[in-house]
Amino acid sequence: MMSKTKIVLAVTGSVAAYKSAEIARRLMDESLSVHVAMTANAEKFITPLTFAALTGNHVLRHGYPAPGDDPMPHITFQRGASLILIAPATANIIGKLANGIADDMLSSMLMASDAPVLVAPAMNANMYNHPSVRKNIETLKQLGAGFIGPATGELACGETGEGKMERVENIVSQVLDRLDLGRDLLGRKILVTAGGAREPIDPVRFIGNRSSGKMGVAIAQAAARRGADVTLVAGAMEIPVPEDIETIYAPTALEMMRTVQERFTDSDVLVMAAAVGDYRARSVASGKIKEKESWDLSLVRNPDIIAKMCALRNKQIVVGFAAETDNAEKSGREKLLRKNMDMIVVNDVSRDDIGFGSDYNEVVIITRSGETIKPQKMSKREIGEIILDRIAGMLTGGYGDRGLVGGRT
Ligand code: C5P
Repeated sequence: MMSKTKIVLAVTGSVAAYKSAEIARRLMDESLSVHVAMTANAEKFITPLTFAALTGNHVLRHGYPAPGDDPMPHITFQRGASLILIAPATANIIGKLANGIADDMLSSMLMASDAPVLVAPAMNANMYNHPSVRKNIETLKQLGAGFIGPATGELACGETGEGKMERVENIVSQVLDRLDLGRDLLGRKILVTAGGAREPIDPVRFIGNRSSGKMGVAIAQAAARRGADVTLVAGAMEIPVPEDIETIYAPTALEMMRTVQERFTDSDVLVMAAAVGDYRARSVASGKIKEKESWDLSLVRNPDIIAKMCALRNKQIVVGFAAETDNAEKSGREKLLRKNMDMIVVNDVSRDDIGFGSDYNEVVIITRSGETIKPQKMSKREIGEIILDRIAGMLTGGYGDRGLVGGRT
């Protein structure tokens, strides 16, 4: 499941090099093995140590190998790489690559490779528009290199124009597109809810819960990486939502109900990872309620979104979550049947090393056909992949998992 595809990130001397650390990080989040090569000029902007520490891999630097070291690092470094990304790419490296110049370690490494190359240029607008740079870019395109950006915007020199390195999210998503890694959810529409509740009492106070949104975001990101068209419906979030995923905020159960219902018919999958508030205030005060000795707050039950969607569905696969403190597995199984889900992910929230707010969880996954999966404690990201593996299986004809409910159309 965890592919360790090797990719080389070639960093050259532009101020945008500081963003390469983020690129490396994001690519690693996608389970890629990232190997960074730097020019001498790149090292003026960011240190090799930054990349070595981030990636856990040796960084290819300029200069000749010391006695006893690998005598031909420009050949061995990129061996087995599925792709080379040059980001940021200066006018200089573009020119060298287009014209077969290999006068330092990084350019020699590029020349020794037959892996596909993606180039993310970053330079001043006049440089980018210089006829010789344009000619070199054309040459490289004809030789099969892909170009990402540049974007138009404010440049480091203070001018505005074309030449700004493309946004990190776009670079990463183009790399993933090019690698075409396990995109088994390509073209599927997946609706994921995440986060906790914020049911207002008055303009200042609300009723909430401890859900951080991490599990739902991990699922949304993994689904997007696997090619799905993802919509995230976010309740109260303790973490930022991913910039590259369409997100709709719906912090109350009624808003979430409306948002999910509007999109449900068009979706192939609904994953309800949000901790929806079970109750809301019977009436929400328009002004701040004054302090008093005691206060009996009257609550009414919120609609059960997942149960409603399960009742409405035809083809959709519906996955729910359950946070339990006692008899977690048994309660989860009952909930799956009662709400008529295809799969439920149960976590025991009485433990404080996992669950709410943590990056880790230990869950029990139960499917409608009675299959129980008990992965060991692992990151929410990895749990997300396991859940999506099951979903992908169900989408491609796992009738057995659907039981007698919701026959495929
Ligand atoms: O019954 P319980 O709240 O434990 O059920 C949890 C599952 O049901 C979660 O998937 C949650 O997103 C969903 N849910 C819902 N609407 C509610 C309460 C919970 O869809 N009002």
